[in-house]
Amino acid sequence: MTHTTPAFLQIHQADDAAVRRELAAGLVQSPAQVSPKFLYDALGSRLFSAITELQEYYPTRTEAGIFATQGADMASHIPARALLLDLGAGCCTKAERLFPVLRTAGYVAVDISVDFLRETLTTLQQRHPSLPMMGLGMDFSSSLALPPDTRPWLARHGLEAAPRVVFYPGSSIGNFSPPEALRLLRQAHAVCQGGGAGGGLLIGVDRVKPTDILEPAYDDSLGVTAAFNRNLLLHTNHLLGTDFDPRQWQHVAFYDSAQSRIEMHLQSAIAQQVRWADGERRFAAGERLHTENSYKWTPEGFVALLEAAGFRPAVHWTDEHEWFSVFWAEA
Ligand code: AVI
Repeated sequence: MTHTTPAFLQIHQADDAAVRRELAAGLVQSPAQVSPKFLYDALGSRLFSAITELQEYYPTRTEAGIFATQGADMASHIPARALLLDLGAGCCTKAERLFPVLRTAGYVAVDISVDFLRETLTTLQQRHPSLPMMGLGMDFSSSLALPPDTRPWLARHGLEAAPRVVFYPGSSIGNFSPPEALRLLRQAHAVCQGGGAGGGLLIGVDRVKPTDILEPAYDDSLGVTAAFNRNLLLHTNHLLGTDFDPRQWQHVAFYDSAQSRIEMHLQSAIAQQVRWADGERRFAAGERLHTENSYKWTPEGFVALLEAAGFRPAVHWTDEHEWFSVFWAEA
């Protein structure tokens, strides 16, 4: 069968008032914090894309190298003719490389906004006319369950009983705390169990490594990561109506080895007051606003997390420096 257009489905998004409440609640906390999801407006997504090309930011190219060199071996563990569920699909490039390797039977690209997916998926569908595709707009950080509205599409393409392969590359799992990551993996496990036998999770994970490799990856010499971090202030100005001046905030990124995580903050260069419609927050010079954590895992720690989430013992593939791993865990 030839498919000329992908299906699109948008599941409810947080309303503007809820977003403003969330941002304001984080700003008045001590220490102040803003969720890393607010790093990604249109400019933030472009800046992140630029980060992935930086010499210092090793995760993207290292993961791509693992898929390129070990994809065939991965395919010997992963069921063919599966429904591929791509979490945080973005430009869908990583999943597209898997289509021939895994002989994918159906593709669901999940991203927070279906609008981000429209153009990409429409072009992707032209390149793969025999592959049923769906763009699903939903915030999977709050729930991963496949919405009931996807059932007619699955039925139409005979995909209800296909094994489900949840694909979560890029080490985005690292931006969740271990308890949050466990919750997300449990939900991924439930999604896999909703399909045919043999389904599971294919996930990219950044590993614990020396600080002198980790820190430059989050504080690069061109200042792209600094711009990415500061852009969160402009995005917050847009969403909450704050009067942040990015020039008065310095990018800070460091590795906390006790917690195995990179922390990203914005540090106030001066004593200042930030105001919005119904609130304000005073920042002392040197006070920080916490914007992101990026957890690094050991293979043993991540295998234990997968097993706690209900998966079978995982296999993983790594690169020559053992900086990054791709895990396959059957549900
Ligand atoms: C999306 N995520 C996996 C990136 C990371 O490495 O934690 C986000 C990022 N933050 C700064 N640089 C990249």
